[in-house]
Amino acid sequence: MTNKLKYFVGNWKMFGDFSSFKIINKINNFYSQNKTFINSKIIFCVPNTLIYFFKQKLKYNSILLGAQNCHHRQHYGPFTGSVNAKMLKKTGADYIILGHSENRASGESDKLIKMKVESALKSNLTVILCIGETLLEKNKGKTLSLLKKQIRGSINKNKNLSKIILAYEPIWSIGTNKMLDPKEIQKIIKYIKSSFLKIFRTRKEPIVLYGGSVNGKNIELISPISEIDGFLIGGASQSSKKFIDIIKNYYK
Ligand code: 13P
Repeated sequence: MTNKLKYFVGNWKMFGDFSSFKIINKINNFYSQNKTFINSKIIFCVPNTLIYFFKQKLKYNSILLGAQNCHHRQHYGPFTGSVNAKMLKKTGADYIILGHSENRASGESDKLIKMKVESALKSNLTVILCIGETLLEKNKGKTLSLLKKQIRGSINKNKNLSKIILAYEPIWSIGTNKMLDPKEIQKIIKYIKSSFLKIFRTRKEPIVLYGGSVNGKNIELISPISEIDGFLIGGASQSSKKFIDIIKNYYK
């Protein structure tokens, strides 16, 4: 077990309605009653339709809430169906996932993601910026250069870097029950941290999460890797038992 703050972030994707608060509530009760997990931060990035409702229900705010994407424009405008970062902040979000591979796959470029990151930071949201390679890119040996390109391309040098968390998610591992070899994860996370320090000429290491088929079993394989600052959890965050198992087994 470590004393360093660890992040357990749920990404609900397109899941949930008001009744799904029971999942969050169980996790919140577990978390508030277990002093062992004092060094962990739990964040749930839920659909926009649920943020305000959950925020009102979470009386003792142990669990923090986030959104999963936003429009890149800072102000209101003629963008049917869109919501900007400022609106999400006012709704009760403190975090926002940006650059998720599911959105990159439908056309989001680093340039667009950079504008979203800027807008989110201006709205005082903490950004969880996703980066990761496809299987093809991995097989071609392009993982590291691609990750560096995504970091460089999605973050403006002059911005508040301490409000940016990186999340490394190998795309081929998302929702497949296949996890990258723990030694590889360690190597890549170290690379991400050192690249960030070089690109932005800073001495403050970024927080880097790992995501992709994290569950209550494989968490034990990666919990000894101290370079991982936390986890971005998709499928398993839709069940209170599965999510709690991940935390319990992490600290075992
Ligand atoms: P899974 O945990 O379902 O693989 O999803 C990971 C993810 O995409 C989190 O952002």
